Amino acid sequence: MTSWFAPGRINLIGEHTDYNDGFVLPFALAVGCTATVAEAPSDWSVRSAQEPDPVVVRRSGLADAGDVPEWTRYVLGTLWLLTDRGVDVPPMEITVDSDVPTGAGLSSSAALVCSVVRAVDDHLGLGLDDDAVFALTRDVENDAVGAPTGGMDQLVSLRGEAGHVLLCDMRSHDTRPVPLDLAGRGLAVLVADTRAPHKHSDGEYGARRRGCEEAARILGVPALRDVSGADLADALGLLEEDELRRYVRHVVTEDERVLAVARLLDEGRLPDIGQALTASHASMRDDFRITVPEVDTAVDALLSAGALGARMTGGGFGGCVIGLLPEGDVEGAGDAVRRAFADAGFGEPSLFTATAEAGARRV
Ligand code: GLA
Repeated sequence: MTSWFAPGRINLIGEHTDYNDGFVLPFALAVGCTATVAEAPSDWSVRSAQEPDPVVVRRSGLADAGDVPEWTRYVLGTLWLLTDRGVDVPPMEITVDSDVPTGAGLSSSAALVCSVVRAVDDHLGLGLDDDAVFALTRDVENDAVGAPTGGMDQLVSLRGEAGHVLLCDMRSHDTRPVPLDLAGRGLAVLVADTRAPHKHSDGEYGARRRGCEEAARILGVPALRDVSGADLADALGLLEEDELRRYVRHVVTEDERVLAVARLLDEGRLPDIGQALTASHASMRDDFRITVPEVDTAVDALLSAGALGARMTGGGFGGCVIGLLPEGDVEGAGDAVRRAFADAGFGEPSLFTATAEAGARRV
């Protein structure tokens, strides 16, 4: 039997930059998923502590995969893709158990995929290197599940380090831990899970991605990462559609904010990053247009209650908001978010603080 744990994540800053080959600055959470692989007499079976029924399928590649519940595609996807790549994957039973809230934008799916890939690689002694493991986790989500995501979530779930955010170059996939010394500066990251339903989020996510790729094509660059801040005005002048102009402005300025925040953290200036966090939120709200009233309300409440900066984190259209706050203001800020939600007639949000923890590990 082989067990691996992989965590969920929060993105400190850098939203919708990953599939534009840009930069992101996420950190791994304490919550995550544990996947256990054991030998089985025949077939592949998948069980989850959070689902009532196990699923048993015959061994196959992706093309011959039958209709299975969506959550199992994140698990079986690993086995299908390995089979397609010529690995003779034996019968096995995979059990998963996760405490990452689902639908909150905290990457419960990355925790699931990364724990499974690590456990299967280890159990079978495949010896995949770090890059191959990451590539497989991304392929499972893109090809076996069909979610056109950019890879940030898997990268930080695999490589996160305690007490650090991970500066990720999403073109080279080089990563560098950058200190996030919250306790040393008397600060905390307060998370408000708005519990706003993620309606149409998949379609909207794909539409943003296609828009960014279309803009890169018109501008004649491989990806929007190749448009610098200095080139932005010229680039905007070449685009006729307002929607594409807004997308480009978000991505180019967001990449700059990520690098600016990483620099400030390297210099030990954690309290100074707040402005960039709040500017990132404004860019997601006004230019990229991926926020909803619940997340905007939570950000405003956090800022009024003393947050140094606040922003939505993750893909958008609901999910979680983070605020960087002096430790002493955390409780009052939580109350302020709850009050603002009650006044607006929104459902009760869930509030908790988050620290940066280690990435995937054998357990
Ligand atoms: C989701 C995706 C990531 C990334 C973010 C937005 O979390 O899985 O790849 O694109 O949205 O930054």
